[in-house]
Amino acid sequence: MKEKKIAGIKATEYIQDNMILGLGTGSTAYYMIEKVGELVSQGLNIKAVATSQSTTILANEFKIPLLSLDKVKRIDLVIDGVDEIDGQFNAIKGGGGALFREKIVASIADNVIWIMDSSKIVDSIGTFPLPVEILPYGCSHILKKLKSLSLKPVLRMKEDVPFITDNHNYIVDLHLGKDFDIKYVLENLKDIIGVLETGLFLNTCNRVIIGTGDNVKVVENPNKS
Ligand code: A5P
Repeated sequence: MKEKKIAGIKATEYIQDNMILGLGTGSTAYYMIEKVGELVSQGLNIKAVATSQSTTILANEFKIPLLSLDKVKRIDLVIDGVDEIDGQFNAIKGGGGALFREKIVASIADNVIWIMDSSKIVDSIGTFPLPVEILPYGCSHILKKLKSLSLKPVLRMKEDVPFITDNHNYIVDLHLGKDFDIKYVLENLKDIIGVLETGLFLNTCNRVIIGTGDNVKVVENPNKS
């Protein structure tokens, strides 16, 4: 908990007046959003775009002015969480089911910061199941196809019914395991009709901020300017 909090708060140091800010989703993003709310109440002048309904609710609670994505030309900085990330900045996101909007927002951002506790850093991604957003229509056929490709799909449930994303779709979690073949997975997924987006984020962030014990570590991605 402490590691998530210090990482979330540290990331707010990168926010400047007049920025359009992308607000991520999840328990680490919570601390960042809480701090942004505090800064706004002290006079910070920003506008934000939320990556999920839950973040919209939080931002409203903390009185952070929000814009819809279609009202902005671009985003200056997005600060978001992550589920697993390796040394090459390959990452899995979407544990909270917000991967599609998170990916869209990241794709139009000039700068992407991911905040995390130290457990998120791994040698090789895949232990955390890879979330994939799929269309509910015909989902049994999509699951069958994923199974036939040995992608080990499990339809995400909430209580006794399928989990529904903010976009009114389903999530399938692929239990790929460590060291899975990223190229094989991506190439096959893009050919399946009804697969809408994946939680694989390759070389997307500019820097990561990791809470480690009582300290915080900032690591720049050398492959992003
Ligand atoms: C939301 O769908 C995710 O991508 C989150 O950003 C990710 O799961 C990290 O969540 P926590 O900060 O709660 O671990």
